[in-house]
Amino acid sequence: MCKSCVITTEEPNWWLTPPAEASCFIGGIEQEPSAERANGWDREPVVATAELVTAATAHLARQSGPTLVRFADPAGLADWVASLLLRDRLLRPERPLGLATGRTMEPVYAALARQVNDLPPAKRQELRKRWCSFNLDAYVGLDRADPRSFAAEMASRLTTPLGLDPERVHLPDGQAADPHAAAECYAAQLAATGGIGLQLLGLGLNGHVGFNEPPCEADASCRCLELSPATRHQNAEAFGGNPEAVPGRAISLGLREILAAERLLLVVTGEAKAEVLARALREPPTPELPASWIQLHPRALVVADGAAASLLDASRDQGESLA
Ligand code: GLP
Repeated sequence: MCKSCVITTEEPNWWLTPPAEASCFIGGIEQEPSAERANGWDREPVVATAELVTAATAHLARQSGPTLVRFADPAGLADWVASLLLRDRLLRPERPLGLATGRTMEPVYAALARQVNDLPPAKRQELRKRWCSFNLDAYVGLDRADPRSFAAEMASRLTTPLGLDPERVHLPDGQAADPHAAAECYAAQLAATGGIGLQLLGLGLNGHVGFNEPPCEADASCRCLELSPATRHQNAEAFGGNPEAVPGRAISLGLREILAAERLLLVVTGEAKAEVLARALREPPTPELPASWIQLHPRALVVADGAAASLLDASRDQGESLA
């Protein structure tokens, strides 16, 4: 049976100290919550190889899976996630921050801009000086200045409001004549930094993370790939509601780079994502549901609103495991 608990503000690790109104579920194994178990941040990150995936999958039954923090209040969720990003940049600047785009992240970046604005000027300067981020993905064929591009989205939601140097906000080059070479170049650029520290992730309705469309193996690396009809449909809003107008290809970090991050922070909101989130956390990891690979990561945190976590709550009520 799954144990549920509230991590209190006495929790020694700032990283996993949700406000009192949030519920924190430690999925899978019934045990007393402890700082070590709750955050798990002291363990080594995953480097995805076929062997490791096989071994880790075999061990899953004995592991408790990602930690889920649920917020009833979406504004509280955005504020807390933003504060994690901010603390990551101020306290752990050695490795770059991995960023995501999408509607889920809009209130997060708005909250981050407010929090940065509230910083003392010296801290704000420090943040700007230390900033380094790598976005997950970019459409192929869209000009950076095109308002529908992820580069434009990051510029308007992050770079400009935070006063960041655009050179420190990295995205794949979707305009490159050879997007396959651009993907390799992006992976090399990221590798040269030592890889992602904290990776922010959204969740696609079909279970994608970044643009890793199903089926996707856990060791898939950064590449240029075809977008599925489901994803083009999901993202059509920014293209006048026409899925055909959504670019057919994208460059995306792969599960390899994502799982190699020190920490994962998956943010999921809205009822429409409830089923895919429950499957991603409860079903055995599978290429058919790329987000399910995050179960293999020792330091994965899932932050969801009540609507997105509704099926996980149901499983708890029925005494089932979350993992
Ligand atoms: C998009 C992006 C992802 C994003 C996800 C969820 O297609 N490639 O990085 O996190 O799908 O998007 P949204 O938050 O709009 O639902």
